[in-house]
Parts: sequence; C-alpha cells; structure tokens
Amino acid sequence: MPNDGYLDDSVHWKIRNGLVAFAEPTQREVADAILDCGLATEVGQKLGSGKEADVYLCRDGRTLRAVKVYRQYRTAHKGGRRIKLESMGQRALREFDLLAYAWQGGARVPEPGRRNENMFSMQYLGTPSVVAPMLNDSVLEDPESFLHQTVAGIEGLAEAGIVHSDLSPFNILVHENLPWFIDLAAGIRVDRLGSPPWIRLQEALRSLEHGGAALARYFRKYNLSLDTEDLVARVRAKIELFRIA
Ligand SMILES: Nc1ncnc2c1ncn2[C@@H]1O[C@H](COP(=O)(O)OP(=O)(O)OP(=O)(O)O)[C@@H](O)[C@H]1O
Ligand SMILES: [Mg+2]
Repeated sequence: MPNDGYLDDSVHWKIRNGLVAFAEPTQREVADAILDCGLATEVGQKLGSGKEADVYLCRDGRTLRAVKVYRQYRTAHKGGRRIKLESMGQRALREFDLLAYAWQGGARVPEPGRRNENMFSMQYLGTPSVVAPMLNDSVLEDPESFLHQTVAGIEGLAEAGIVHSDLSPFNILVHENLPWFIDLAAGIRVDRLGSPPWIRLQEALRSLEHGGAALARYFRKYNLSLDTEDLVARVRAKIELFRIA
C-alpha cells in the first residue's frame, strides 16, 4: 500500500507549509468543507456518529443527501500503527468505490453521489422529517417478510460482487419497509481479491457468519430463525459465479 508506515512527500510539504491542522475540525469547519467542495449546498444536523465517521443530513439544491465524513484523528483505532494523514481519504475512497459498485450491481444500498477527500455524498434514506431508523431501533410491521428481504438483500450484494463484512442490525436501515445496507467500508469486492485471494475470501465469509449471527439474534425476538450456515452457503454460491465468469 502506498504511504504505508510513513508520510509521503506531499504530506511533508503540507506540514512544512503549515497546510495541515493537527486538531479535529469543528462541526462548523466540517460544514464549510462540505460546502466548499460542492458536495452540498446546505448542511444540516448530524444523523449519526460511528467509530470513525460522522454522517450529516445535507441538501444539494432540492435533493436531500447524506454526507459521510471520515474523522481525521478521533478514530477507534488503537495499537502501534501510526495514523497516516491521507488514510482517511483512502478509507472514504474505498467505501465510495464499494458503494458505487454495489449500486451499479443492483444491490439495495444508497445511491452514491460524489467523493471529495475524506467525505462522500449519497442518497439520503428517510423522509424530510424522519431519518430511516437502524434495524436495531425498529419495530417491524411484518418481521417475517423483512427477514426474507434481508437474506435476499445480502444475496443481492453477493450478486453484485460484494461481501458485506460488517453486517449487523446497526448497519441496516429500515426505509419504506425494506432493508437498506449501509456502511460498506469493510466489505470486499469479489472481483478484486488480489493475492492471496482465497484467504481474504475466507475471512470475509467468516465475518459474514458473525454478521449473520448478529442478525439471527435480532430476529429471535420475533421468534424467527435465520440459518447462518445457509446464508453463507447462498452467498458462496453467488460468488462462485464470479469465479467462473
Ligand atoms: N444514506 C443514509 N441515509 C440516512 N442515514 C444514514 C445514511 N447513512 C448513514 N446514516 C446514519 O448515520 C449512521 C452512521 O453511518 P455508518 O454506519 O455508515 O457510519 P459509522 O457507523 O460511522 O461507520 P463505522 O461502522 O465505521 O463506525 C447510521 O447508523 C445512520 O443512522
Ligand atoms: Mg455503522
């Protein structure tokens, strides 16, 4: 990976010339950055805040959009690795690329907008007055049908060539009674496995198993069971199609 372990020349140059700030930007500064680079024309409330990114409700002309901003410093990453200044841009790029690929492949994910450095815009899920809730916070009208749609949606991602490696009731939003998959940051593209592909695929399928188990726990409160092994087998079957193609 470029830039790994040390800062590259362009970053040294920015530091020498005072172009790098070493404190997390304030909410106001983030809003200015979103407006400056043209991702939106108006920035509203924060919709959510996770381990390493914040998501804002924005307006682009007449259209409501969600803008995800990777934080530069306040991340949950611990351990000995140095924080690389450019790495949040890379994360945003990676998630945006996966989102675009999933969407083009017909998966039920927010339509991607544009990316700039450590932030990108996408379709806002919700109504003008209420944001689509996370599955975890939802009371489902028809849980059985929702479970089927969830399994079908995970298969749909696999058909598009993606394994979502961070599935949980927190990364599925309930919008118009359907499951929408968000937070693809840790996903993998089956057609871009690099080397050694087999090991990465095995890892992704293992995280899918964990994700399936988290969803199974969620659906248990409705007395519904989700067969995790079957889910993984279905995804594996879809992925095989990519390996043949
Ligand atoms: N397209 C969207 N429309 C409406 N709300 C969204 C959208 N994308 C994200 N959100 C809200 O923002 C929250 C955080 O988004 P997301 O899960 O992508 O980031 P994250 O949790 O910070 O990532 P991480 O898991 O790396 O910590 C979601 O739980 C959801 O409430
Ligand atoms: Mg999340």
